[in-house]
Amino acid sequence: MSEKNSPPGSPKQNPDQNLETNPLPKDDSSLETIVRKIQDSMSLPKRHKFWETQPVGQFKDFGDTSLPEGPIEAPTPLSEVKQEPYNLPSPYEWTTCDMNSEETCTEVYNLLKNNYVEDDENMFRFNYSKEFLGWALRPPGYYKSWHIGVRAKASKKLVAFITGIPARIRVRNEVVKMAEINFLCVHKKLRSKRLAPVMIKEVTRRVHLENIWQATYTAGVVLPTPITTCQYWHRSLNPKKLIDVGFSRLGPRMTMSRTIKLYKLPDSPGTSGFRKMELRDVPAVTRLLRNYLSQFVVSPDFDENDVEHWLLPTEGVVDSYLVESPVTHDVTDFCSFYTLPSSILGNQNYSILKAAYSYYNVSTKTPLLQLMNDALIVAKQKDFDVFNALDVMHNEPFLKELKFGPGDGQLHYYLYNYRIQNALRPSELGLVLL
Ligand SMILES: CC(C)(COP(=O)(O)OP(=O)(O)OC[C@H]1O[C@@H](n2cnc3c(N)ncnc32)[C@H](O)[C@@H]1OP(=O)(O)O)[C@@H](O)C(=O)NCCC(=O)NCCS
Repeated sequence: MSEKNSPPGSPKQNPDQNLETNPLPKDDSSLETIVRKIQDSMSLPKRHKFWETQPVGQFKDFGDTSLPEGPIEAPTPLSEVKQEPYNLPSPYEWTTCDMNSEETCTEVYNLLKNNYVEDDENMFRFNYSKEFLGWALRPPGYYKSWHIGVRAKASKKLVAFITGIPARIRVRNEVVKMAEINFLCVHKKLRSKRLAPVMIKEVTRRVHLENIWQATYTAGVVLPTPITTCQYWHRSLNPKKLIDVGFSRLGPRMTMSRTIKLYKLPDSPGTSGFRKMELRDVPAVTRLLRNYLSQFVVSPDFDENDVEHWLLPTEGVVDSYLVESPVTHDVTDFCSFYTLPSSILGNQNYSILKAAYSYYNVSTKTPLLQLMNDALIVAKQKDFDVFNALDVMHNEPFLKELKFGPGDGQLHYYLYNYRIQNALRPSELGLVLL
């Protein structure tokens, strides 16, 4: 449930906050907002009828150090896992989405394009490309049965979706087989009918059938109980467009030309030996990455197959660069970002915001600041409008230095059926979900 409640281009984010600009005014008058504010100010714990029944860290247990870290419930024998799908309301039926089929991929693409995550002001909506979906959902060892759709029986129209992919996730010293759950989406016309819990239960059942008992996911909403809460930061690459579409606004003492100058970048990367990653680099990048990620409390346990899939450049999906020492030819540094555009809703001049998202970055010789500045430069060369990054891993220092501005949306990370005793700082997290 990779709910990025603050998708790229969200006007809640004010990329220029530190740079003499103002946040956009917010319309805080909806009844829901008022109720939430009252609830928040009274610190009333929100009830979660569904999540309270699930093996996840519960709010009431938060900080209880007598509870052990690790699985909350033991696995059940596979023969005891429910063999039939959960019941859907009668007008709907389950479908397994074959992401190798161009036609199915198009249906999924359209469902998400029209119904997936929007910012609070409904100005932008994620627009994952078909190529991206094919990549995100078919990593090594993926299960077709974890790509789950719901269709209207009568029209056969796809109206909901949820996915899992297998991953080895390390939590402290344990490497745990997990599902990464993502792309939970219910058609706008079918919201608030408690379809999401059925979908979550169904994907959980299918994960259990593969003898996997843990999962990880992210959401923009607070559920019981985040292992950490991160913030998106945004670096303008095309400030004029970002201002024109309402992503950011001119600061009080700023003119457009001063703003453009502020964000200007050199035409090409400055680090000698900086080049695109190639297939022959997979072993070196795997070593670099494994070594780097081992210092975080939670991170993926990548092998060479994973690195080849997740980090070898794929046009319009993922970009990776590295620094090869001109002297020793050692690969000493690495940076990567993925491509996730957003539709711009109701703007006369622009329909797509092209956003790059920081993925995994490792520096051993080139200062991280310099490496990420080169990443910004290649992103600009590739015509991205904005470069987004979470404050995970060692990102925070470069965010501030490289003119990223903080967004005000948060991204919460969760584990299913795995307890950790204390929440992590974002800098202790070494995991980026798509
Ligand atoms: C997220 C979405 C599928 C939820 O569906 P819905 O129709 O709004 O909600 P439903 O009535 O079906 O279910 C409500 C339950 O789902 C939970 N839920 C809502 N969003 C959730 C999320 N992102 N992850 C996990 N659970 C979520 C709610 O907390 C609630 O359970 P609770 O009573 O225990 O708190 C739907 O709003 C949607 O498609 N939104 C746009 C895309 C999106 O934000 N996807 C999430 C990406 S992670």
